[in-house]
Amino acid sequence: MIVSHDVGFISQLCTKYFDIDNFRIDVYYGSYDTYIRSKHAHLTKQTQKNTTASNKIALLSDSICKQRKWMTTAEDKHKHKVLIDRLKRDLKKETEKIVHRQKTAFNFPITGQGDRSSSKNKNVLIQLNDISVVLGKKLVLSKISLTVCSGMHLIIYGENGVGKTTLLNIISQRIEPYSGTLYVDKKASLMYAEQGFIDDNITCADYFSSVTGLSKYQCKEHIDELFGIEADYGNMNLRLLSGGEKKRLQIGACVIRNPDIILLDEPTISLDEYSVSILFDMLKDYKGTIIVASHDTRFKEIEGFAVKSIDSHGNLI
Ligand SMILES: Nc1ncnc2c1ncn2[C@@H]1O[C@H](COP(=O)(O)OP(=O)(O)O)[C@@H](O)[C@H]1O
Ligand SMILES: [Mg+2]
Repeated sequence: MIVSHDVGFISQLCTKYFDIDNFRIDVYYGSYDTYIRSKHAHLTKQTQKNTTASNKIALLSDSICKQRKWMTTAEDKHKHKVLIDRLKRDLKKETEKIVHRQKTAFNFPITGQGDRSSSKNKNVLIQLNDISVVLGKKLVLSKISLTVCSGMHLIIYGENGVGKTTLLNIISQRIEPYSGTLYVDKKASLMYAEQGFIDDNITCADYFSSVTGLSKYQCKEHIDELFGIEADYGNMNLRLLSGGEKKRLQIGACVIRNPDIILLDEPTISLDEYSVSILFDMLKDYKGTIIVASHDTRFKEIEGFAVKSIDSHGNLI
């Protein structure tokens, strides 16, 4: 049994699908495409049923109002009361037919987004010259040179273990290179969404506040935007979040104050397709500099991203 939202992986393997949605589990059989088509048909039918019930509710409510009005002047009030009770019973039945869907829409809370192409100053924000990194006894990065100007969007590809995270750690000065020189514009603000959390034993609001410097009250508002208001995510412990929710929170905290440079390490890991599309829309329009380390080839689909790779010998090509 596989728990996943990785479509490529699932569609090659699975023939039976337990679909968890809106507080219930539905079972579908067949290919992945058949499952998606059947689910779509099921949702369309549900929407039609909701519309029919809503229309009946509107008519019944209107009739109840009218009966109440007539009852005030009518001689035989009992007759109206019986009718109103019957209408109320019908109204209850129709109301119960409506299936409410859990709200899933969210946005990365960003203020002050602008057009990247309109920013005039294309100054160099990051410059690596012949940077080599040795971890343990392994040469991870070999004489890497890279120039990143303001507004540049860059994806660094590479297989597991080639040194993508190491490169972001160098740029963010988490680690020191073995040799070479690094320049990062001191005036540029930089935020780094690492692959995991250093401390996951704090609440979401505390985490968000520590990363962004915003008040807890402001953070809770932004967290509501990221997750919806069905649950009190602000006071929830990070440990309790799903993998995708953790990523959303981390990326949200990283971008909220529009830093000049954002570093994202494997940002799409754990995100479902819907969340990835929201992320890509946000990144596409982001006016600051972005460096993403990932092995997710979908980044090639985003307009305006320069592509670099690290090979198995630690070269950046
Ligand atoms: N502190 C460390 N000590 C020794 N080896 C390390 C250390 N950190 C990372 N490595 C190794 O360096 C290589 C590159 O790691 P990393 O940059 O995390 O790869 P990627 O992000 O591309 O998957 C891996 O082989 C990893 O095991
Ligand atoms: Mg990595």
